[in-house]
Amino acid sequence: MIVSGDLCINGPDSDAEVAFARQALGLLKPPVHAVPGNHDVGDEPPGQEADQIIDADRLRRWLSAFGADRFAFDADNWRVLGINAQLLGSGLPQEDEQDAWLDAELGATSRPVVLALHKPLFLQSPDETEVTATSINPEPRARLLHRLRRAPVRAVISGHLHCHRDVVRDG
Ligand SMILES: [Fe+2]
Repeated sequence: MIVSGDLCINGPDSDAEVAFARQALGLLKPPVHAVPGNHDVGDEPPGQEADQIIDADRLRRWLSAFGADRFAFDADNWRVLGINAQLLGSGLPQEDEQDAWLDAELGATSRPVVLALHKPLFLQSPDETEVTATSINPEPRARLLHRLRRAPVRAVISGHLHCHRDVVRDG
């Protein structure tokens, strides 16, 4: 089971909410692979709420409960990767660490890759220029797409928008 984030409402400022989310996921029978959303570790800047931007303490709270904010595993012939979307554009040192990890993962597999993250890469087009809390912002999006396009990435799964969309891009 892949959980694409926003397990909490006030996770950025609540030990209890994050602990409850971890406990609740622990009740599920299948293996669970979770990445955080903005309501778990805070938004990447500028974000929806200026006082709930991701920082080291908020990230530490998630990591202490869940152990990791990204994952990689094989499923049949697929390689499934998950990343912390809230780091993208954060400027935190963990963003660089995650970029290096993703490069290594993408370079190490010949299997088709599915990537999971909380926020969608874009709303309608990868060329969107608006800075928004609704999707990954233009600069980090461009860096991420550059990575993904060099690798056999076949699908990207995201959450955040509270709606269903199925978009085909570049085949
Ligand atoms: Fe969200």
